[in-house]
Amino acid sequence: MFRSINILISAVGLAALVAAAPARAQDVSFGERIFQEKADCKFCHGPEGDGRGDPRSPGAAADLHKTILNKAQIVETVSCGRPGTEMPHFDKYAYDDDTPCYGMKEAQVGADKPPVPHSTSLTRREIEAVADYVLTTFVGK
Ligand code: HEC
Repeated sequence: MFRSINILISAVGLAALVAAAPARAQDVSFGERIFQEKADCKFCHGPEGDGRGDPRSPGAAADLHKTILNKAQIVETVSCGRPGTEMPHFDKYAYDDDTPCYGMKEAQVGADKPPVPHSTSLTRREIEAVADYVLTTFVGK
């Protein structure tokens, strides 16, 4: 009786582990493709995320290994860009009336509005995935 319960519990535990591992790897590889290919973050931040873009960063991109931002703040930075810098806004609706950034709409951000990406804008899901990739691959490493 006890023995079969134990076996059942370890079987459930193993199934949970097996289910969790590929899911995690898959999330990061989706984010990786966005960073390295689709959104071309590497153009400025470099393939290693250290700010050494290839062939050359046009705007002194941040070294992502050293960022102190949390996930929500990375999502916000990628969605909204950084006003007055080369960091583009990847949410195409950023600074619209319904989706202000840092409390600013078009009128307030004015000429400091970050550029549109040279690659493409991203969906919320893609932005979350690239933030996860940055956090697991670069930050603190
Ligand atoms: C055209 C160049 C360029 C591209 C493309 C670009 N960035 Fe940036 N990024 C910058 C610059 C420049 C900064 C620094 C802005 C500043 O001085 O505050 C920055 C800052 C950041 C920061 C804030 C770091 C910190 O600690 O303050 C994050 C996070 C970031 N970028 C992530 C990304 C991601 C993810 C992508 C792709 C989806 C991307 N960037 C694409 C130029 C770029």
